[in-house]
Amino acid sequence: MCGIIGYTGFRKAAPILLDALKRLEYRGYDSAGIAVINHEIKVEKRSGYVSYLSGNMEGHVGIGHTRWATHGEPTDINAHPFVDCRNEFAIVHNGIIENHEKLKEDLIKKGHRYSSKTDSEVIAHLLEEEYEKAGDFRKAFINAINRLKGSFAIAAIHKGEKRIMGVKKESPLIVGIGDGENFLASDVPAFLPYTNRVVILEDGDVCEITPKSVSFYDMNGNPVEKKEEYIDWSPESAEKSGYEHFMLKEIYEQPVAIENTVHSLFSTHIDLKYHGKINVIACGTSYNAGFAGKYLMEKMLKIPVEMHYSSEYRTRPNVRERALSILITQSGETADTLMAAKIARKRGHETLAITNVLGSSITHHVDHVLYTSAGPEIGVAATKTFMAQLASMYYLSAKLGVDYGIINESRHEEFMEEFRRIPRLIENSLQLEDDIKKIAYELKDKEHMFYIARGINYPLAMEGALKMKEISYIHAEAYPAGELKHGPLALIRKGTPVVAIVSKDETYEKMLSNIKEVSARGAYVIAISSESEVKSYVDQWIRTPSNNPDFSTFSSAVVLQLLAYHTAKLRGCEIDKPRNLAKSVTVE
Ligand code: G6P
Repeated sequence: MCGIIGYTGFRKAAPILLDALKRLEYRGYDSAGIAVINHEIKVEKRSGYVSYLSGNMEGHVGIGHTRWATHGEPTDINAHPFVDCRNEFAIVHNGIIENHEKLKEDLIKKGHRYSSKTDSEVIAHLLEEEYEKAGDFRKAFINAINRLKGSFAIAAIHKGEKRIMGVKKESPLIVGIGDGENFLASDVPAFLPYTNRVVILEDGDVCEITPKSVSFYDMNGNPVEKKEEYIDWSPESAEKSGYEHFMLKEIYEQPVAIENTVHSLFSTHIDLKYHGKINVIACGTSYNAGFAGKYLMEKMLKIPVEMHYSSEYRTRPNVRERALSILITQSGETADTLMAAKIARKRGHETLAITNVLGSSITHHVDHVLYTSAGPEIGVAATKTFMAQLASMYYLSAKLGVDYGIINESRHEEFMEEFRRIPRLIENSLQLEDDIKKIAYELKDKEHMFYIARGINYPLAMEGALKMKEISYIHAEAYPAGELKHGPLALIRKGTPVVAIVSKDETYEKMLSNIKEVSARGAYVIAISSESEVKSYVDQWIRTPSNNPDFSTFSSAVVLQLLAYHTAKLRGCEIDKPRNLAKSVTVE
């Protein structure tokens, strides 16, 4: 949600800003704008796409923004950047300024005029006021941000200067270090074609970048040292590389994403205490990955693993429990999950984050971090990060099994042997794409669908339905197959598509009965299974590679992703940027 870019250097700023904003599009936005300094500050901003901006401006210093409306509609006027009354400062902001009404009221009394209905504009006016007192851009910036309450990542420029000031508090901001040029952005892909050298800001960090220097301060203006990191993502990893959509590319990147994640898991040492209870807290696709992981974890550890949606976790009373709380978030920036991490910690839980983004906000609010190494994920609908999270939950189940003395070495080795085969399993499932395309053709005109499964496959059904609804806009609901009789069966009519995930485990016979139940009512049943027997009961059988039922989750996930992808494509949907959705949800 919302993307920031800042550039100061030897190149023309506008094309770089626009290119970077395009790379940030995946975060979700509904308006965009840039401001560039050339003698004076010129702003161009529009509701709608980045491509609506001409970028027709000179100058080597500038800032840009993609906005996801929270305060004020997505209009041209409410788009960022904002300038002060004298057009001397321009700012872009992500997050929410909680005290903006009070600040605005005070500033209006002093003669400031506002153009927009946003909370962000107040920052430009505060800068103007503070500059009058301080006479220096950095000092004015620090004084201004100290008057703000809420969450913010801000970049600001000042007429006649080459420096860009930035600050991070609960919204991501990263400095990119180039040669004779420097960058500021919400996320690495924004400047990846220019540099891999980054400094990840932490809450309360202020940065000042010029073409030749980067310096850091705390919110009182005292200098602080920051560590430079090297991000080994290639610029191509944030490009489509010949695929029609990022989503398809990312589905195909899954074997490599898992190889890299496994490598990173094996090289991370974490020591977790035994608490007799585990909570898993997450949103969206990350929740579904955690939920599937829960089944395996309970099976391996024989202790309760409780699922919580991050947004609901805060309303839960502070029940007496000792627990390990696992927070799963690919972006590491989801506001509800960050809040849940803080609450869990306050309640005395040991906390562990599973995230895909180095140094992301969640990593500062937990005791331990496990990184998935799926590489940048641009498609709003998560695919490879889901697989990497699922693999991490599997890895953790086995590791904790040994650490807690619940499983022995030989059981662990047996499990790890299967675990290491996951990338191959995914590769084999990707070969089913042509069969899946044909089935997608049958689904393209449907308006409702059901996904049914039992046991560990139930979270997969949830993920399959989520993928289908978010990118194809078909109403898709997942149900534990045993619950069908308690309501949804009433909705099954001739031709209603029902996707059934069937593994040869203790749920097998019951799943066959559920399939017969829906078939008898005319449903169009698509089964995802390795078992040939299933074929005689269904309309379509997608034969997944035969394997251990605990690991069939990985092959089923590929099928579910491709089914959603091809159905959405046939319906002409905007697959990588579904309407109303954002990649990183930084508001609660
Ligand atoms: C948004 C994205 C989903 C993602 C969810 C949680 O809704 O569109 O793809 O699963 O946020 O994001 P997180 O970064 O916390 O995993």
